[in-house]
Amino acid sequence: MRGVCYFLIMATKIKRIGILTAGGDSPGLNAAIRAVGKAALGHYGWEVVGFRDGFRGLVENRRINLDRSALSGILTVGGTILGTSRDKPHRMVIDGKTRDMTGVIRDNIRKWGIDCVVCLGGGGTAKSALRLHRAGINMITLPKTIDNDVAMTDATFGYATALDIATEAIDRLHSTAHSHHRIIVAEIMGHRAGWLTLGAGLAGGADVILIPEIPYNVERIAGAIDERSRRGSNFSMVAVAEGAMNRDDARLFDSAEKKLERAKTLEGKLEAKRGVAALDVRHQGNTLRLATQLEELTHLESRVTILGHVQRGGTPCAADRMLATRLGTACADLINQGNFGVMVAARGDNTEPVPLEKVAGKRKSVPPDHSWIESARSVGTCFGD
Ligand code: F6P
Repeated sequence: MRGVCYFLIMATKIKRIGILTAGGDSPGLNAAIRAVGKAALGHYGWEVVGFRDGFRGLVENRRINLDRSALSGILTVGGTILGTSRDKPHRMVIDGKTRDMTGVIRDNIRKWGIDCVVCLGGGGTAKSALRLHRAGINMITLPKTIDNDVAMTDATFGYATALDIATEAIDRLHSTAHSHHRIIVAEIMGHRAGWLTLGAGLAGGADVILIPEIPYNVERIAGAIDERSRRGSNFSMVAVAEGAMNRDDARLFDSAEKKLERAKTLEGKLEAKRGVAALDVRHQGNTLRLATQLEELTHLESRVTILGHVQRGGTPCAADRMLATRLGTACADLINQGNFGVMVAARGDNTEPVPLEKVAGKRKSVPPDHSWIESARSVGTCFGD
């Protein structure tokens, strides 16, 4: 690709690009910043500017020059050297008031001579990027998140590292559960998707895996744990996704989310969002409640471990560094071709531009007949269904 692009490189009008990281941080963000930056600087000869703290940096003109020295030595560093935030361009709190900053951002980008903005983020970031693209800014996104829930890409960077961390945690918890004849319930991140819990549960040999895509029945879980005890294993390892829920709660969430999807007016949307938020609040502490219920039903002592942000921190694993580097360098090639308004997706060993419309606000859930689920069931894992 690079070899045949000499003419295109000479023909490009790009002079300066911007990079920002938005949403939750994720291992591999710096590897991706480095990849986009090094390809842009070294291969195409563009200037690279990093904006701080997500979309807010575009409003407040907080930036750093990503020259060779800024990009050096960051491949293995966790977090993001740019900082991140969950700010949205169209709903940003400025001086205590929520404002639509889309126009301000567009004017700033023009004033600063930025030819394209690269956003490293998940489905929500793609939605914000699409909004800015429609407002006239050249935008490209790269898929990052430990949740692996971005639509239209095989993988997201951050997931592989978090999977290793969560798997190691299950391994360590297994030996203490075994020693004390206890149930240990490990809560794993993933927002509303079960990829991380399913992957770590499968790799760590969890006896029970609970994911949002398969609502559970607590009696069924207790039955599976009792059955293990009858067979002589008086301990159990339960891997539960933070978004997993019992059947009744799942029905409530489902109808609240459908209401949000159907809402046409701003008022209707706000009301539906309040409904989802109220259910979110109710869901807090669900893992603790589950552990208590299992203790009551099985008479086995139970303990809870919430892995939390430890899953997002630290050095990215080799797979995430490779993915971030592949996506980042492909991103520079797409900018050079003038291919904007897309996410750079991973497709097997290759990459592919996908229109932001197909990604924005969408979620890639675990299909209930996914092969990882089938494999787990075949080795006797209970899904609580
Ligand atoms: O999207 C990544 C993620 O870690 C989710 O798994 C989790 O639900 C959420 O972010 C936590 O967000 P915060 O860091 O804002 O608490």
